[in-house]
Amino acid sequence: MTAYATAAIDSGFTEHLMQLRAAVDGRLDELLPAASNERDLVAAAIRDGALAPGKRMRPLLLLLAADGLGADQRPALDLACAIEMVHAASLILDDMPCMDNAQLRRGKPTVHLTFGEDIAILAAVALLSRAFGVVASIDGLRPLVRTQLVEVLANTIGSQGLVKGQLQDLRDGKHARTEEEIAATNNLKTGVLFGAIMDMAYLLSDAPKPVRGVLQRFAVELGHAVQLFDDLQDINPNSDKDQGKDDGKSTLLALCGEQKVRERLDGHLARAQICLDEAYRGDVYIGRFLRMLFG
Ligand code: IPE
Ligand code: IPE
Ligand code: MG
Ligand code: MG
Ligand code: MG
Repeated sequence: MTAYATAAIDSGFTEHLMQLRAAVDGRLDELLPAASNERDLVAAAIRDGALAPGKRMRPLLLLLAADGLGADQRPALDLACAIEMVHAASLILDDMPCMDNAQLRRGKPTVHLTFGEDIAILAAVALLSRAFGVVASIDGLRPLVRTQLVEVLANTIGSQGLVKGQLQDLRDGKHARTEEEIAATNNLKTGVLFGAIMDMAYLLSDAPKPVRGVLQRFAVELGHAVQLFDDLQDINPNSDKDQGKDDGKSTLLALCGEQKVRERLDGHLARAQICLDEAYRGDVYIGRFLRMLFG
């Protein structure tokens, strides 16, 4: 852990997280295209989607994970922003009428409702492209590390990663599925991005090799937990998104009911913490962060 981070954490973990979040939002603002020209609807849509007040769970996790492994925070911050761009792009597409047909995202109208479907597609493509551009231009990375980071990101998003998860969710989700099939889809549509986050933290650090596998096991557990928590938001009237979007979909919530899903969620979080304790030789901060998120 860096001296800066240790001092900040001592003065209060919540405050430390708020500082990290402000750093992420500030850097995202810098890295995204400026919406200086009112005709540049794509830039406006990108900023509307990506800067909207989400939880920033993924970039904050990357920063905490990298810091805990002793990695430099400056490249980690840019990588964290690249991950948030990918996530924001996935949300814009996920909300479109041909996908989940959502109206509300992060407490605001979805990007296609504000800007139109044509602009929403272009904004998502541009966000993904910008994410790769950011990884390509981070200062001071060793060439092999940079190549590996690009590879991780490409594989995570692509036809065998998040895209495959979304395909399964949209098509197979219409039919009855086994618990294992649903979990496999959840891992692809949500878990693999957490896998990328932990791998990026590892690649930025000099952590010993066996840590990589432990972090991947953590990411799988966390991915399942995040998607189960998300499925519960679909029936939560206080959610910052629409409710009922999963009606008729074969989710674990539909299959097992709320009580079982909550138990399962707790199990994933407990196993995630065991991995964290192993990787970080007694984690405090990431576990604390996750407990704050999952309440
Ligand atoms: C929602 O992610 C979509 C999933 C992959 C589950 P988040 O719950 O992290 O959404 P934001 O970023 O806070 O809006
Ligand atoms: C999200 O799953 C998966 C993504 C990769 C975006 P959902 O479709 O359940 O996410 P929300 O509920 O719209 O955020
Ligand atoms: Mg969806
Ligand atoms: Mg959705
Ligand atoms: Mg959902």
